[in-house]
Amino acid sequence: MPRILESRPTLSRAPLSGAPWFAVEMEPATGEVILLDQRALPAREVYFAYDTPDGVAEAIRDMVVRGAPAIGITAAYAMAQCARAERGEPAMFLVAMGAAGRVLGRTRPTAVNLAWAIARMARRAAEVARMHPDERAAALIAEAESIHREDVAACRTIGKLGAALVPDDGRRVLTHCNAGALATGGYGTALGVIRAIREAGRAVHVLADETRPYLQGARLTAWELAADGIDVEVITDNMAGHLFARGEIGCVVVGSDRIARNGDVANKIGTYGVAVLAGVHGVPFVVAAPWSTVDLSTPTGAEIPIEQRSESEVTRIGDIQLVPSGVRARHPAFDVTPAKWVAAIVTERGVVRPSAGETMEALSTAGAVGSTAGGESGEPA
Ligand code: MRU
Repeated sequence: MPRILESRPTLSRAPLSGAPWFAVEMEPATGEVILLDQRALPAREVYFAYDTPDGVAEAIRDMVVRGAPAIGITAAYAMAQCARAERGEPAMFLVAMGAAGRVLGRTRPTAVNLAWAIARMARRAAEVARMHPDERAAALIAEAESIHREDVAACRTIGKLGAALVPDDGRRVLTHCNAGALATGGYGTALGVIRAIREAGRAVHVLADETRPYLQGARLTAWELAADGIDVEVITDNMAGHLFARGEIGCVVVGSDRIARNGDVANKIGTYGVAVLAGVHGVPFVVAAPWSTVDLSTPTGAEIPIEQRSESEVTRIGDIQLVPSGVRARHPAFDVTPAKWVAAIVTERGVVRPSAGETMEALSTAGAVGSTAGGESGEPA
């Protein structure tokens, strides 16, 4: 059971999120992984402190923390926690790290950031296995913090690049699910674009799809944008078509859980319908995601595993039963938007235009914009 923190925790260092609140952090002094319980928002801001990778894995599965980059960072901290706890000889250390990685990796299948972060931590563990237990734990904590810092830096670059693609015509920006600071190390991808528009001194009005069944838009996107004083209105998912037809939506910006090599994009269920509506109405559909979401080893969206979650998340909201008892429900948690509907994918390495036939390989050897670092497929620059 996690330790429950009823107020915003004070860490021994400033949160890496760059904001007073955060989705995920590790307290280096104790090794606890601290998560904001996103299931309780917007009613309550409660944090849970976990002291084992198994507990963190359960938190990822149960959506205490969610959003592709955020669950990758969380898993990285959990592996650092494992490195801190395991003081045995190198072989034992690597066995423990491998076991932690497997438990964490089984939690959610669609977001590739999770597997990417676990693989990066496992590589670092192999490099430092022969060091003194204190030194190898410090190296793994530093690696997890680098993953976290790089994600926040990527979000800021994505924000600037994406802001330039959003028309400045006073119409609304539609977003689906939550691809904000809550879903990343901080700042956000799709909501990073929104924040960057505002930081550039431009007006921005956001329409947040409520995002049935988990209500990430109504609960989380609305919470974090309102906290920043950004103009946000919530609509139910079935209202978007009406507002496109009336010409109220000037751009769509969403995040992603996995981007295939050809530019097909997996994201929260309902994204595909929004993309088609945008295409039919001539509105740009923009995807904002860090390079850690790009999976060059997956050729097309057809090969992306789609998480099937519990029926009860569809049949109930909290204690309220919506569907007659005994009636079945379906809950694919993600869908795939074919590349032809995607005007632009914005990463920290630059912009790819899938609907114009560009693939993600165009950026496979690029470094982050504004940095001189390069990187292989899936590696942040
Ligand atoms: O099921 P969730 O809430 O983890 O799904 C999250 C999304 O689909 C986000 O849009 C995606 O992870 C991008 S987050 C920057």
